[in-house]
Amino acid sequence: MTKPGKERNENRHSDVLIIGAGIAGLCLGIKTAQRFPDKKIAILSKDRPGESNTQYAQGGIAVVTDLKNDSFQQHISDTLLAGDGLCNEEVVRSVVKEGPERLKELIAWGTLFDKSSNGLDLGLEGGHSAHRIIHKKDKTGFHIIDSLLRMIAKFPNVEILWNTLAVDLLIAEDKENSRCIGSTFISHDSRIIRSIQASFTVLATGGIGQVYSVTTNPKIASGDGIAMAYRAGAKIRDMQFVQFHPTAINSSQGDITFLISEALRGFGAYLITSDGNRFMFKYDKRGEMAPRDIVSRAIYKESLHQLVYIDCRHLEKAELIDHFPTIYQKCLSLGLDITCEPVPVLPAAHYLCGGIDTNLCAQTSINRLYAIGECARTGLHGANRLASNSLLEALVFVHHCFQDIETRMYHFVGTVLPSEMLITHKSPSEKLFTIQSKLKLVMSQKAGIIRTNHGLKMGLDLVRRLSVELELIFLEFGISWILCETRNLLIVANLILEQSLDQKENRGTFYNQDIQKVGNSILKHHVKI
Ligand code: FAD
Ligand code: SIN
Repeated sequence: MTKPGKERNENRHSDVLIIGAGIAGLCLGIKTAQRFPDKKIAILSKDRPGESNTQYAQGGIAVVTDLKNDSFQQHISDTLLAGDGLCNEEVVRSVVKEGPERLKELIAWGTLFDKSSNGLDLGLEGGHSAHRIIHKKDKTGFHIIDSLLRMIAKFPNVEILWNTLAVDLLIAEDKENSRCIGSTFISHDSRIIRSIQASFTVLATGGIGQVYSVTTNPKIASGDGIAMAYRAGAKIRDMQFVQFHPTAINSSQGDITFLISEALRGFGAYLITSDGNRFMFKYDKRGEMAPRDIVSRAIYKESLHQLVYIDCRHLEKAELIDHFPTIYQKCLSLGLDITCEPVPVLPAAHYLCGGIDTNLCAQTSINRLYAIGECARTGLHGANRLASNSLLEALVFVHHCFQDIETRMYHFVGTVLPSEMLITHKSPSEKLFTIQSKLKLVMSQKAGIIRTNHGLKMGLDLVRRLSVELELIFLEFGISWILCETRNLLIVANLILEQSLDQKENRGTFYNQDIQKVGNSILKHHVKI
């Protein structure tokens, strides 16, 4: 059903349209608004202020600040080693070296980090050869988002539309190439699909954890930006490299599995099995501090026989609570006191190393469309992200994106858009949630830590059948918020499965039992299952 006329003037325009309000979207908003006070910056975000993966970041940001005990070269080597030979070295160098400048900016915008007598207090996480994680207790992301929201509110040229879902990118085709001219969106309180035109459109929509049934990611992480970019024809890469965080709380309460930061292991916590034995040294000489692909596979293997726990009982109680108040309180709320009992843990889908392919300027393969933050595949992470490198990546690529837009900024020229707008219909939510549950289950079973060719093919088959079901619902009921998200989850799942079937070597986060060939760089660290 279509409706002409009346709402036409509600179409909007902006000079820069940013989709997403996590660390990537908000930082870009601040930078562009500050540099171009006479330009309009629009930000769409599908949930309430703050709700994002960024908000839940615990460990912190990996930045070299202590040049006595650390070096850029060490951080570069750690990143390359974790990435298992598939990182883009130029990108790694650029991100690591630009980190301190970007961190200064974040601090200047009001973000507070913990200090020690020598300067910033530096944490340690898996795969890092030095203490270099800048943090605010175990609630770093919350403090970052809080300061960014305060900062961005100072710019009258920024308009943020909360509870607003970007649906699809607007692509103008001309003879030479296609270019992005904005996006369509739905607001929570409206049933009309509107358009927003823009000179530059930036996807900052975050991760995909919701494709799996066990994930540390909040509900917003349904891979919308990646699916939108895919539908628009952008290049999507490395979707097979899904990172599972080794230690989420193994508790059946709630949809989202609470993370136990890797920083806790950096602080000295052990991983043990039900019989009380530490097992990580069987798998890697770095023990609990091995990169997380190795730790996750080891936990997966041990969990086949008995439960795995994180054990803090040997750590000094007051210091433990002081450093990790959020984790301590969360566990207490579940009836677990980390100071005197081990906490059951399991790996959970946590981070996507792949995504929308971008170059060093954050440009995608579509003209005037950029991607930043977790939805982008920049080449930094290769087959496995080094802990706490993603907030850093977001900060550095936001700056690259900003610099590129700065050189291309021009006076906004609108294009005539279709004059009618679709009305959304009441959607059969239950049917759509059933599709989502089936999808999450099959992805956890067939595209998890350990994959097989047969399992991946079965997964793909089911995802294709669910996509047909979705199409029928669309034809009958039209578009709705849940339908859009379900469609995006299916597209992302399809990409993960297809690209997993194309992957011919086991590297980093990717492990297919049917593949004998193992990546070349850190062969010795691979866990044989
Ligand atoms: P997000 O912060 O996820 O923001 C995405 C935004 O896009 C949200 O505002 C969302 O509403 C919006 N959005 C999505 N789809 C749409 C749509 N269709 N329309 C409109 N808006 C949309 N990394 C580290 O480096 N260090 C850590 O310590 C760390 N800890 C973590 C702990 C947890 C529990 C999790 C889940 C992740 C952690 N990570 C950590 C990873 C890191 O937090 C994320 O990779 C990073 O914050 C992503 O930032 P972003 O801005 O790209 O996306
Ligand atoms: C954590 O605190 O363990 C998460 C760090 C990250 O995802 O980089």
